[in-house]
Amino acid sequence: MKGLHRIAARCCALLLGLVAAQGALAQATAVPLDVLHWWTSASERKAADQLASHLAQAGVQWKDAAIPGGGGMAAVKVLKSRVLMGDPPDVAQLIGTTLTDWADVGLVLPLNAVAQRQRWSQQLFPTVLELVTYKGDVVAAPLGVHRINTLLYNRKLFARWGLVPPRSWAEFELVARQLQAKGVRALAWSDEAWQIATVFETLLLGDAGAPLYRELMVQRKGSAWLDPRVERALQRLRWLRALATEAPVERVWADSARELLAEGAGMMIMGDWAKGELMAWGASPVRDFGCVVVPGTEHTHLYSVDTLAMLVSPRAREAVQEKMAEVVTALPAQLAYNRLKGSVPVRHDVDPSSLDPCARDSWETFARSRSARVPSLAHRMAADEAIKDAVAQVLWRYLTDARMEPGEAQRRLAAVIRAPGAER
Ligand code: BGC
Repeated sequence: MKGLHRIAARCCALLLGLVAAQGALAQATAVPLDVLHWWTSASERKAADQLASHLAQAGVQWKDAAIPGGGGMAAVKVLKSRVLMGDPPDVAQLIGTTLTDWADVGLVLPLNAVAQRQRWSQQLFPTVLELVTYKGDVVAAPLGVHRINTLLYNRKLFARWGLVPPRSWAEFELVARQLQAKGVRALAWSDEAWQIATVFETLLLGDAGAPLYRELMVQRKGSAWLDPRVERALQRLRWLRALATEAPVERVWADSARELLAEGAGMMIMGDWAKGELMAWGASPVRDFGCVVVPGTEHTHLYSVDTLAMLVSPRAREAVQEKMAEVVTALPAQLAYNRLKGSVPVRHDVDPSSLDPCARDSWETFARSRSARVPSLAHRMAADEAIKDAVAQVLWRYLTDARMEPGEAQRRLAAVIRAPGAER
């Protein structure tokens, strides 16, 4: 009898504990989480709204603090000033090295308990888990994997003129000349520095191969930047730009995607968020446009992983922040969000046949153990904000000043690249 009483008492205590915890969460969830991010294009907006609606179903309210600006240039600055003013958002789109920088100063809430409860070590790709782990702590909730080495083409134009999606630079040149002969721009282009850097790193990967790319971008060996393969990639960058446009053109990436869809341009090199954008406008990756990898980068995944970090704040929002991390990494939100965003889920347990053809190739390449997975510099996966900006500036100068020889650009790149550990 005594034993039964003891068990009943323990059950009651457990139940009361559970009710209290739920009560605390309910109280916490009544106040929305302030989320700072840079998703403002049509697809980015839809994808963020999708996350917000999954969270709403779990009782977590999303208060939007979107800062426009492709590649997050402005958002990163606004975040810094909000933190300095003592008003950090509850959640921020912190990716790659910006994430570890903020974690280093103790601004980011560790999510070890959620990661353990949700078995992230078994569910998530190891590369992704590694990326969100810093000094032994899990410091962000991963959302999706973008593939940077993506070449999009307009299927209708290609079908009309019997063009074949290029697999090599020779084929690319042939297609480009045929498009030009028909009065269509071969490649959609923008001279925004981060977009130039995005295109350049895919060329570099193709020309240098994954091992040298890692020496250049991850180990950041200054001397490796003088390699002739870097020179080749720089020459190719100039050649591509000349194919694309004569006049300087700085425009947002979504405008280039618009030009591709409107048959003003035949091809576009951009991270696969551009695919998400085309789909947000109703275009289909089977009917209207297609994607192949940038020539020379087969079996290679040049990735940028989007992540949300929960920031430490005087408002004590841990319970609801943890709930957010749990919901956005769970399978239903992962599938719905990534379908809109153009990226692919960060999880293993996805049926690839449910993904569109571009996403399927991206996800399968990322998942395959023998593929090379290499981090994007232009999207903060490989080096900090200062190095990324310095590299992008050198490339911008090189492209806009025809007198600068590739060798000079190589020397400048070698000078701005600092090896890990020598960053601060
Ligand atoms: C982000 C993407 C975003 C893109 C364009 C990248 O750095 O990872 O989520 O869509 O920038 O703004």
